[in-house]
Formats: sequence, structure tokens, C-alpha cells
Amino acid sequence: MNDAPATPVAPALTVLADEAAYAAAVQLAVDAAATYYGDGTSPLDDDAYDRLVRGIEAYEAGHPDQVLPGSPTGKVAGGAVTGDVPHTVPMLSLDNVFDPAGLERWAAGLERRLGREVTAWSVEPKLDGLAISVRYRRGRLVQLVTRGDGAAGEDVSHAIGTVVGLPGTLTEPVTVEIRGEVMMTAAQFADACAKRQAHDGTTFANPRSAAAGTLRAQDRPYACELTFFGYGALPLPPGDASDLADRLRTLPHSRIMDQVAAWGVQTTAATPVAGVVAATVPEVQARITEIAEARATLPFGIDGIVVKADLADDQARAGFGSRAPRWAIAYKLPAVEKITKLIAVEWNVGRTGIIAPRAELKPVEIDGSVITYATLHNAADITRRGLMLGDHVTVYKAGDIIPRVEAPVVHLRTGDEQPIAFPEVCPNCGAAIDTGQERWRCVRGRACRALASITYAAGRDQLDIETLATSRIQQLLDAGFITDFADLFTVTREQLLTLERMGATSADKLLAAVEAARSRSLSRVFCALGVRGTGRSMSRRIARRFGTMEAILAATAEDLRAVDGIGPEKAPVVVEELAELRPLIDKLVAAGVNMTEPGVVPATASGTADGAAAGPVAEPPLAGMSVVATGTMTGPLAELSRNQVNELIERAGGKASSSVSARTGLLVAGEKAGSKRAKADDLGVRIVTCEEFAALVADFR
Ligand code: IVH
Repeated sequence: MNDAPATPVAPALTVLADEAAYAAAVQLAVDAAATYYGDGTSPLDDDAYDRLVRGIEAYEAGHPDQVLPGSPTGKVAGGAVTGDVPHTVPMLSLDNVFDPAGLERWAAGLERRLGREVTAWSVEPKLDGLAISVRYRRGRLVQLVTRGDGAAGEDVSHAIGTVVGLPGTLTEPVTVEIRGEVMMTAAQFADACAKRQAHDGTTFANPRSAAAGTLRAQDRPYACELTFFGYGALPLPPGDASDLADRLRTLPHSRIMDQVAAWGVQTTAATPVAGVVAATVPEVQARITEIAEARATLPFGIDGIVVKADLADDQARAGFGSRAPRWAIAYKLPAVEKITKLIAVEWNVGRTGIIAPRAELKPVEIDGSVITYATLHNAADITRRGLMLGDHVTVYKAGDIIPRVEAPVVHLRTGDEQPIAFPEVCPNCGAAIDTGQERWRCVRGRACRALASITYAAGRDQLDIETLATSRIQQLLDAGFITDFADLFTVTREQLLTLERMGATSADKLLAAVEAARSRSLSRVFCALGVRGTGRSMSRRIARRFGTMEAILAATAEDLRAVDGIGPEKAPVVVEELAELRPLIDKLVAAGVNMTEPGVVPATASGTADGAAAGPVAEPPLAGMSVVATGTMTGPLAELSRNQVNELIERAGGKASSSVSARTGLLVAGEKAGSKRAKADDLGVRIVTCEEFAALVADFR
């Protein structure tokens, strides 16, 4: 769920008590801006810098006579940097809004100024990198210039040839200046960190600072790749005799971006967050929501959404302020990266025996939640990043993703940092560790965490074995009656009666619950296996696709990729996991556990098990539709858990989702359906009651 755009994110300000505090704050901000816009090694994260500048602004508003000439307020790049290549047209900044109300106020203000409605808004991601001006003469890339102080920048043409998205030659011999953002994708960042690590044992703090450092570096013995996305084009004097300059002055922004892409320069058009044109402010808002929701899944950083009046005439009439154009605004999204301190590293053993390091952090607030723990992936990753205890680290969290430590902030080291100790034996059971793969694993594999695996398998959303508490599972393990959850199906009444606190009634109850579990649907049995990367809804999709366990086991990685949500990375993992789980599955089959999905025609070698595609079966009512159930289910759905409602949605051909977006096809609104209902309403999503929904899917219950 991501309701980021609805949350006001204007950062609080640093309160400055007196003139001395003000002067110190100005100095700190100027220094931070110089490194931020320079080599990227700022000691402050974005939020901390914003708070500082707001504090400076507030102090200056109250003490106009004390404003220092060096103050960063009202200046491009905080006035920190300059250069010696003058810009043809100043490279300005953007003003910010933080919530829908701010956006509406800004749009209304612009329309008042224009004296008419804006009928075309361009909505684009705000790419989190560095602004750059790119000069092409007669179609050839000749110069790269940083933004600098907005009036003049630094020549960084040495980077030509290392920037993906900036071809050396355009498809037409035009003379033009393209403006856009230079950044590093996640893969480029990982590669750059590895290269720097190999070179001097340090790393970059985050993709933005890695891009800043790389763009300016001239004498590094290693080369790192960068990425460019264009967001504007203007005539470059002295131009040629063509009418290009006129076209660039009169075409709508969106058409100019089409032209930039046609010349062969990368724009966001090919990404999931392509620029679009919206006719109204609510449409703009809807696209903002979509982009915000896509943020966590993008392979590059964005820190907001840029909304621009699309038509050249609107832009010309609106004009520019001293720092920013009046026809564009940045809708800022909450910062998803902060700097904090790495206090300790814990090693936890997961259900499958994987030994994963977890960082304990000095608590830090990111996007509305306080982060105390973050994942560190694996031991190799710690080494690759050169992390040390006591390091300041960048921590990233967006949307639903698990917070992760990105990198140490090497220039903040004091010398007191300590190496991170790696375990020598399994921290759970003391057995040896298999370090053959990047992900370390207890040599006992799943058996190491049998209790957790069996508890999971018996859980409500899997086999739903009522009355089987974790303490009971522990007893069964201790007695040697079970080693995995398949053994539950062969435990005898006599065995149960030997356990402490187990009377005849409890034993019979438990045996009946186990018996009931024997006929659970394939999707639940599959989910109970705990295959890495497959939770409840993925298990349902797999079961519906293949119909039987036999078909799932026969599937290749390629076959598995036909399942929504299984990509090239996950597919081979599933195949590998299933091979490992094969003895357990065989045991389940031998115990007579159901291995088919009700209502699904088993897959043939050539095709799908999906009812929808299997031939004579009619198209299910929710085919291909994303459906969200929210609020307390009532009436005919009252007895169902949320998981069971989701199962029902998927049996009826839909895709159960927990968040509402423009792609949502249907919302099932129970009692007290709150913000999701309101959002669905705003987006014009069809909303049904529990009764209506039950009738719609009656054939699938
Ligand atoms: S348009 C006249 N569009 O954000 C300024 N800027 O905070 C027009 N940025 O300096 C800029 N993505 O470096 C524009 N789609 C986008 C952008 C974008 C990122 C950067 C740009 C600008 C900064 C302002």
C-alpha cells in the first residue's frame, strides 16, 4: 500500500535561536550544498538539508537586516557551485509542493496569472540525479556542462562515451541543446561500488553521489557507467538555417520530448513512469499517484513528479521567477533515504536455513515510519560494501519494501569503526555453515528451523490445522514423532497420547484437524511448502496455472514465467527449491494429501490449466481484473478471512491486490471501508458491496 502522495511531507525546520546559530547554519548549508552539487559527498541527507534551509529562511524572514550575502536561500544549487561555461539560457531550479492541496493551489495560481485554463499538463518523474546540459552540433555530441550556479557550469565533456542514453550522433544532423538528468541505475551503482571497493576498499553512499562523483572524476583508474534521461530541448546558438529553433519555441513540451526520443536520446518514454499529458488537475493527480506507486519498483531513483504546463504559449506567458519557471512545479515525494548509524549486525536463520545478516540501526524516521532494523542481504554483500560497525550508513525504504542498508558514508568515518564479525557456526543450531553460495545456509537446511517451517505450514492461510499450537509442534519434534510437516499426517493417536497435557479429547480434535488438512486445495499445500518467494497469492496463481502438483514439478523455469509475478530471477529459484523439497512432497503424496486445485483443468504439456483458457469453460467473471477487498466483510462474506476472500477473487479469474490504483478494476467495500474506498471513488473505480460481490462470484465459492 502506498498512499504517499496524500501525505503532506513538507519537512519540519531546524529552529535557529540567534544570530550565531543562523551564521553557523548558513555555513553548514553552504558546505553541504557544495559537496552535494560537487562531488556528491554531502554529510547531510536530503531531509536534513531541507530542514536546515527552511530554518534559515524562517530566521531571515524574522530578521531581514541580518541576512548574510552567502545565504543559500533563493539561489540555484544553494549558490554553492559555479563554473566557467556560460549557459545559453539559465538552468533554473523548480519550486516544490508536497501534497494535492499544494498542487491545486499552484495550478490555480498559474491559471489566474494566465487568465485562462491550462488544458494540457505534462506529468513526468522527477529524476534524482544531476542536471546537465548536452550540446549537439550538426548531430554530433560535442559538450557536456553541469548546472553550476545556473548561469554557468563546469565542462564535463570527458564523460562523453560513458553515459547510456546519450548517443555520440543523433539520427538527424541538428544543432540543439538537450537538458536532462545524469544518474546511476541500481545496476550501475552496484557495479561502481564494486569497482571502487576493489580499487581503494571504499564505496559510494548512494546512486546520486556516485553519479556526481563519477561525472566530475577525470583521473580514476576505473570507469563507471552513467545513465541520462532528457527532459527538455532548446535551440543552441549559433543554430543552423533550419526552422528547428522555431519548432522548439512553439511545439508543446510533450511533442519536443517525442522529438528528442526520435533523435535517439533516452527519455522516460521507455520506462514505467513515462511522461504523459493530462487534461485536468485530477488527472494530473492520478498520474502522480501511479508514479509514486511505481517508485519502489524502478531501477533508478526519483524524488518527486514534475508537472509542467505543456503548451509553449502557456509557458511563454507564465515566464520565469529568479530561481524557477512559473510554468512548472516539483511535487516532492517523501525522502526514502536517510543517513543513520549502524549499531550492530545480527545473524538470523530463516525458515529455509538461510543465515541472513540484519542491521540494527540508530532509529531513523523514513517516509512516516521509524526504522530500527534493515536488511543487509548476505555476508558477501557486507564485504562488497566494506561496511563496518559504527559506520554512518545510507538506509533506503520505499513503499512496502523491506528497508535496506545501501552503503557506508565513508567520508564520515572517525577511525573508531570496527570490523563486522561473521558467524562461524549456525547461530540457531550450531551446525556448520554452507558458505558455497552468496546466501549462507545452515548445512541442516530446513531441518534447522523445523519448528518455524512446521508452524508456518500449519498456519491459517496454509493447511489451517486448528488446535496445533507452536508449543505442541515443539513437543512432537522433541518426542521425535515428526521432523517435517508431512509427518503430521502419519502421527498416531497412541503417539499423541504419550505427550504431556494431551488428553483423549485433544488428541481426537487434533487428529480430526489433521484429517481435514489432508484435503486442502493445492494452492494451500503449495503455500505450506514455504518455497522462497512464493506467499499466499503467488501460490494461488501457480496452483491455478498448473492445476496439479505433478504439473508444477514438471514445469521448467520457462514454464513458470507464464505465472504473473514470476520473472527471470524468481523462476529458477522456484525450480531449485522444488527440487530440494521433492522428498517432502513425495512424503505428502504418500500420506494422501490432496495435490490438485479445485475447479482447474490440469495443464497439458502445451498449455495452461487456467479455466479461462482451457476451452469450453466460460470466461470467469473477474478475468484479468485487479480486485481490492477492504473493510470488514459482512453478509455472505462475513465468515471468510481476508485470505479466503482473496482466494475467491482469484478462483473467479481476478488478481487480488491490497492497494487501489488507476489499474484497479473492482473494489469490494465492506463495513468501515476507509481511505481505499475514498481513493477508488476518486479514481472512478467500480465499487461493490459484499452482497453484490458474492452474487458476482457465486459459481466459484
Ligand atoms: S524541468 C527550468 N523535468 O529537478 C527547470 N527537471 O529541482 C526545468 N529534474 O534542476 C527543469 N527531473 O535537475 C525538469 N522531468 C524533469 C526533471 C527535472 C529532474 C531536476 C532538474 C532540476 C531539478 C529541480
